[in-house]
Amino acid sequence: MSPSSHSTILVTGGAGYIGSHAVLALQAKGYNVVILDNLVYGHQDIVEKNLKAELIVGDTSDRALLNEIFKTREIAAVMHFAAYAYVGESVTNPAKYYHNNVVGTLTLLEAMQEAGINKFVFSSTCATYGIPETVPIPETHPQNPINPYGASKLMVERILQDFDIAYNLKSVIFRYFNAAGADPQGRTGEDHNPETHLIPLILLTALGKRDAIKIFGTDYPTRDGTCIRDYIHVADLAQAHVLGLEYLLAGGGSDVFNLGNGNGFTVREMIATAKAITEKDFTVQETDRRLGDPAMLVGSSEKARQILNWQPQYADLNDIISHAWQWHQQRHDKLGEQANRPNSLAS
Ligand SMILES: NC(=O)c1ccc[n+]([C@@H]2O[C@H](COP(=O)([O-])OP(=O)(O)OC[C@H]3O[C@@H](n4cnc5c(N)ncnc54)[C@H](O)[C@@H]3O)[C@@H](O)[C@H]2O)c1
Repeated sequence: MSPSSHSTILVTGGAGYIGSHAVLALQAKGYNVVILDNLVYGHQDIVEKNLKAELIVGDTSDRALLNEIFKTREIAAVMHFAAYAYVGESVTNPAKYYHNNVVGTLTLLEAMQEAGINKFVFSSTCATYGIPETVPIPETHPQNPINPYGASKLMVERILQDFDIAYNLKSVIFRYFNAAGADPQGRTGEDHNPETHLIPLILLTALGKRDAIKIFGTDYPTRDGTCIRDYIHVADLAQAHVLGLEYLLAGGGSDVFNLGNGNGFTVREMIATAKAITEKDFTVQETDRRLGDPAMLVGSSEKARQILNWQPQYADLNDIISHAWQWHQQRHDKLGEQANRPNSLAS
C-alpha cells in the first residue's frame, strides 16, 4: 500500500494528550482516522471541536467491539496510545495497570490478528529502562523497569516480538521521554486530571490554579542540584508516529526507537523559563527527593533520525513552554475551575 494513499488508521487513546496530536498529524497527511477511546481520561470536547475524526467510545478490552470495528471498516494499521500512565498509582494498584495496559493490548492484538491487520505503532516509554546505566540512553540499554507501569509496557514489547515471529505482525515501538508542549495552532494540548507532569503543573501554578510548584530534591549531582529530564515536543512526537506508520506501510520490519529531544533540562531551568514566558512570579517550594527518581534521564534519538528521517521542529524549550502556555490559558479560560471540568476524577 502506498504511504500517500488515504488509508484508514485506528488510533486508540486518540482523545488523550499524545493521541490527539497524532490524529492531527495523520489528518494533515491525508489519512482517515477512527478513534477508539473509553474517555476515562480522554476529552470528547476536543475531538468534536478540533479533530473532526470519528470517535468510537469504547475499550480496547472489548473484543466484540473490536471485531465490529475491524469488520465494518478497512483499517490499514493501528496506533495504540490507550493505556494508564500514572507511575505512582501503578505501584499501589498494579492490577489496574496489568489489566489495561497488558490484557487490553493483548485483546487488541488478537482482534487485529484475526482481522488480518498486521501493522502496529506502539507507545512505550523510557520507564522500561529503569535506572539508567549510561546517558544519553540508547535503545540497546538494558530494560529493568522499577515500577508496574514500566513493566506493563515492557511486557507488551515482548508480546510484540513474539507476535512478529508467530503471526508476522509488524510493529514500530516508540519509547518516549517526557512528552511536552501543545499543538502550535492551539487545537489540542495537555489536560490530564489528576496532573502529574512538570510543565502543566508549573503553568497551572502560573495561572493561580495551584498554590506552589514543588521541587523534589535539590542535592542531585547535576548542574544546579535538581533532576534533569528530556522534554520532547508533542508535535514532534506525533510527526515521528506518522513516519513510523509510513515505514510500516512501505514494508518496513519491526523496530524500536527512542523519542526524545536529546537535551536535558533541570527542574530549576524549566521553572525559570516558564516564569520568563508567562511573566508571572509564583511560589516555588523545595522539598526532599522522591523515591525512585533518577538524577538524569536523557535519551538518544539518533536511530529515529537515521532510519525514519525524523527531524524534530521544536527542540527549543521556549517553543515547548510557549505552546503549552498558549494552550493552558485558553483551556482554563474556557473551562474555569479544575473541579468543574469534564472527565474530572473523584481523586
Ligand atoms: N505523556 C508522556 O509523557 C508519556 C511518556 C511515555 C509514554 N507515554 C505513553 O503514551 C500514551 C499516551 O499518553 P498520554 O499522556 O497521551 O495519556 P492520556 O491519558 O492523555 O491518553 C490515553 C488515552 O487512552 C484512553 N484509554 C486508556 N485506556 C483505554 C482503553 N482500555 N480503551 C480505550 N481507551 C483507553 C484514555 O481515556 C486517554 O484518552 C500512553 O500509552 C502512555 O503510557 C506517555
